[in-house]
Amino acid sequence: MKKNTLVGLCTTASLCISHAALAEETISVLHWWTSGGESKAVRVLKDDMAKQGYGWKDFAVAGGAGAAAMTALKAQVISGNAPSAAQIKGPLIQDWADQDLLVSIDASATDWKSHTPPPIDAIMKAGGHYVAAPFSIHRINWLWINKVDLDKVGGKAPETWPEFFALADKFKAAGITPVAHGGQPWQDMTIWETVVLSQGPDFYRKALVDLDQKTLTSPQMIQVFETVQKIRTYFDKGYVGRDWNLATAMVIKGSGGMQFMGDWAKGEFANAGKQPGVDYICAVAPGTANGYTYTVDSFAFFQENGQKTATPGQLAMAKTIMSVDFQEQFSLYKGSIPVRQDVPMSKFDDCAKKSYTDEQSTIKSGGFLPSLAFGMVQSTVTAGAISDAVTKFMNSSEDAKTGVAALAAAAKIK
Ligand code: BGC
Repeated sequence: MKKNTLVGLCTTASLCISHAALAEETISVLHWWTSGGESKAVRVLKDDMAKQGYGWKDFAVAGGAGAAAMTALKAQVISGNAPSAAQIKGPLIQDWADQDLLVSIDASATDWKSHTPPPIDAIMKAGGHYVAAPFSIHRINWLWINKVDLDKVGGKAPETWPEFFALADKFKAAGITPVAHGGQPWQDMTIWETVVLSQGPDFYRKALVDLDQKTLTSPQMIQVFETVQKIRTYFDKGYVGRDWNLATAMVIKGSGGMQFMGDWAKGEFANAGKQPGVDYICAVAPGTANGYTYTVDSFAFFQENGQKTATPGQLAMAKTIMSVDFQEQFSLYKGSIPVRQDVPMSKFDDCAKKSYTDEQSTIKSGGFLPSLAFGMVQSTVTAGAISDAVTKFMNSSEDAKTGVAALAAAAKIK
């Protein structure tokens, strides 16, 4: 009755929706999707929830890769104001579940297992119950290249490191910043991790998944550090602290030639009206054609008002996130590919289609590997120690052997 009165009072369609939503339930959502492409993607969920009569209280915490968002989340939980849903991924989901703070969303997940790649399905569960809903799969080992710049210097997308450095020299000679980069620890890690992958998927697995000391201290790892050291010489002077989307904007405009970044960068190109193959190239990073480093965004659901069970709004949100239509539209804006394996790829561009084909083949070959830089493997303590070692190396004149020794020591920190 009350709801009908409210709806009866409203004058426009949008007012009707917000009144109806308030009468139902408002979901508070903590996430770090604040760039142009990211905002467009998360708005799809907000709109879908509004259509179902749910309100949305937004806690967007700026900062690529979510370190600031995770700090804000801890503060909210400690003060007894846990959000209804929070963007959390990888092993961190388990950590929150271990503290008995999450709720089961099994009721919304009846068909998830059969439609999700097994390693990803497993991460969404704790104690045998689904506690998080996956959005999409981002590939990390990409190199984004401005096509106009590339044509101008008569280059082609590099498949090896020697080709990469030759192209970087051409860009430099043409007055273009060869590598657009933002000097923030997670962006440093993105480059470093991609160079690790270029030593082969097995090497990556042994080094960053198994943390095998012999691999971590091997001559190939010294080569990795030397390559990273050389890449660094192609940054511009203003790289320190730059946000990732500003580095992407350099490549969009053409003042920067290339960027190493996960495919949320494609969301920025798309948002700027740029076409793959015409305005920019999405190339698999040099030497990494048979590997696929992935990260999966997910929302974990928190207990609200002391209730151990999910609210109708939380269940509706989880169901929506994993619905075929949402998965498609979200990834179209976000630059990712759907996590659900039964979403048609026909509306996607060539970069996403390549990502999908490579996902399928690397799942079979063993080259589908969790990204360390993006929280898909290792505890936050170990990943943080490795990130400190890598960032220190990238921002000092340390030699490769010293960098490797620091890495090997960091990998032992649990
Ligand atoms: C997330 C992406 C996001 C990126 C930049 C990554 O950790 O998985 O969804 O676009 O950070 O903020």
